Amino acid sequence: KILVLDFGGQTCQLIARRIRDIGVYSEILPGDTKITDKIMEDVKGIILSGSPYSVYDKDSPHVDNRVFDIGVPVLGICYGAQQITHLNGGKVMPLDHREYGRARLHFDNSFDLFQNVPQEFISWMSHGDTIVELPELYKVCARSENNIIAAFKHKNLPIYGIQFHPEVTHCEYGTRILENFAINICGCRKEWTMQNYLDDVSQDIKKQVGDEDVLLLISGGVDSTVVAGILLKALPPAQVHLMYVDTGLMRKNETIEVEENLKRLGAKNLYIVNAEEKFLSALKGKEDPEEKRRIIGDLFIKIQQEEIEKRNVNASFLAQGTLYTDMIESGKGVGSKAKVIKSHHNVRSPLVEQKRRENKIIEPLSMLYKDEVRRLGRFIGISESVLERHPFPGPGLAVRILGEVTKEKCEILREADYIYINELKNRGLYNDIWQAFAVLLPVKSVGVTGDDRHYGYVLALRAVVSSDGMTADAYPFPMKDLLEISAMITNRVKSIGRVVYDVSSKPPATIEWE
Ligand code: XMP
Repeated sequence: KILVLDFGGQTCQLIARRIRDIGVYSEILPGDTKITDKIMEDVKGIILSGSPYSVYDKDSPHVDNRVFDIGVPVLGICYGAQQITHLNGGKVMPLDHREYGRARLHFDNSFDLFQNVPQEFISWMSHGDTIVELPELYKVCARSENNIIAAFKHKNLPIYGIQFHPEVTHCEYGTRILENFAINICGCRKEWTMQNYLDDVSQDIKKQVGDEDVLLLISGGVDSTVVAGILLKALPPAQVHLMYVDTGLMRKNETIEVEENLKRLGAKNLYIVNAEEKFLSALKGKEDPEEKRRIIGDLFIKIQQEEIEKRNVNASFLAQGTLYTDMIESGKGVGSKAKVIKSHHNVRSPLVEQKRRENKIIEPLSMLYKDEVRRLGRFIGISESVLERHPFPGPGLAVRILGEVTKEKCEILREADYIYINELKNRGLYNDIWQAFAVLLPVKSVGVTGDDRHYGYVLALRAVVSSDGMTADAYPFPMKDLLEISAMITNRVKSIGRVVYDVSSKPPATIEWE
């Protein structure tokens, strides 16, 4: 595998992704990680990422000097290259102007890192410091049109530095350069395929579990469904227990679809818990969003525990759909938000805490990115409708019914949301949007139908584009579709009198309204 050391560069995740796309497994660790033999197990190459820091900043992160002594090829990208220079006695200086954007490069054609790359190509730069003098034993291999040192190499050791960013799509031949590094220079093989991953993870699960049983709490989303699929492939179905709690705050037909999907995957011990009444009565009269969330979270855990006892589920292991991004704890805390988001399912649950203490947690997705989970899901035959589903919050419709949640309001919102989402799919818009949903507002506005004035609910439609939910922009909705969908909703859902579209971005707004 290739180890990517993260110095806080925005594109660090992208480096790891590109390497995986080439077919080589890659992992990210914080830049200043101490390089021990254990960490170096199976590592065939190290990439040092970019960073917002300058090597001269007092608190700038530095790589453990050992990386230069262990003999594994090292590639420094941008700040990574500057560190190689700085730590080995070369000179880095601030530029008058940040060099940002496309830059033409030319290089000496014997440079192995640029094999099969035309002698001139357009790279992508983004740096405020520049390398002015290389350390002893290093030589310049490429310069940019501004005569900046764009690539260098140690004369005897496999240590490389490049000033540009091969991981971004604007950089020509970027993937080829990373491939040259991973395959030709580090000697990795292209073995990172979903089949291999499935085989490995299945073997691990079998070894870990033996003939004991595993419980998986299903939310119906992509991650838990894919984990269910993996467990049902790796183990005899009788060993796999799947529990799904219908809070009554789910979307239309959701529970039925979840059940069908899991049965199709071969589920035998499937516990669908109908807890609508319990949730609605606990939420009665509650208007404060945080209180609603807390009530739902606590009740969720309580019901899970009761049902596990009631149904005599004797599973010593607990499986979870934790992703790679949830696991990385680099300087920037990548994925920390994901942890917060999932808190009421995972972290706070006494069951999870107990299983963690006992070392009885199985996390078969913990090495995958979200789109790799989708690829794996596709590979094991999970339907597209599950794999392409927009995220859905744990508290469900309760945070989309502003103010008090009642059964009547749930029904109204379910119907309106169903029309909205269905239309997005029919019109081919669904996959352009990261997340879309309807929100029922706690106000009524006046309207006319025939000769009558009546007061109907106001419904807000939300659709955002985003890459991870941390920031988002309102989706530029085609006006014709928006008008038609609005008319369909007010025609079919009588108690809704008015539809509005939310055009706020995040920040300052959030994606959900509560
Ligand atoms: P916000 O509203 O914070 O949402 O911009 C970002 C993403 O997180 C989801 N979300 C939640 N997911 N439990 C969850 O499981 C929650 O309490 C929760 N709140 C927000 C939201 O749907 C969006 O995808």
